[in-house]
Amino acid sequence: MPRFLRLAVLASGRGSNLQALIDAIAAGELAAEIVGVYSDKADAGALQRARDAGIPAYAITPKQFATRAEFDAALFTRIDAATPDLIVCAGYMRLITGHVVEARRGRIINIHPSLLPAFKGLHTHAQALAAGVPEHGASVHFVTADLDGGPVIAQARVPVLPGDNMETLSARVLAEEHPLLVETVRWLAAGRIVLSETGSSDTGPAEAPIHVDGAPQPPLQLGANRRFA
Ligand code: GRF
Repeated sequence: MPRFLRLAVLASGRGSNLQALIDAIAAGELAAEIVGVYSDKADAGALQRARDAGIPAYAITPKQFATRAEFDAALFTRIDAATPDLIVCAGYMRLITGHVVEARRGRIINIHPSLLPAFKGLHTHAQALAAGVPEHGASVHFVTADLDGGPVIAQARVPVLPGDNMETLSARVLAEEHPLLVETVRWLAAGRIVLSETGSSDTGPAEAPIHVDGAPQPPLQLGANRRFA
């Protein structure tokens, strides 16, 4: 049986990825509980989605603090109080202080709208269109002090089609982000994915954890080309 995972979700914006987690849990498709939603924006749509679902929602805004380290200390004190097993960054648009991340190694994941390591940072769909790549997508990765550079767990791919613009391409990617995030959290809940301590990759039998360290094992492929069964 999968573990009943306690999730904390960080989100800065509309919260459609948060909603995908809420819906999957409500449908009995994800053995998890969201113990809190945390935002650096008081007006984030994600906070309203949390309240609507009866989940504790907290806005902690950076302007209340002198430094990023003080902000992160306050934010993660609040998060730790909810004793989450896993912290999910779902459209959380701030860097997290390095030592805060390191103290939670393997317990923070992020969804990023590109096929990492391609197109780190902001404006990933514009980057993909400008580069003229035939394929784009989204990645879920463990968060490390290296921005968008932590070990990739799973990816979903979409084609870039003739005539695509930011709206069409971002919508195609977003539609794949939601199942990608739910599926990845499901596998983490089942203990099938852990961040390797040694830095070595080890793909065991299906029941065993998949140790992910970014290389040389390719990320799990989800979406149109699913490998999770
Ligand atoms: C998503 O595209 C996610 O990959 C990126 O920010 C966006 C958040 O969307 N990090 P939402 O707030 O989950 O709707």
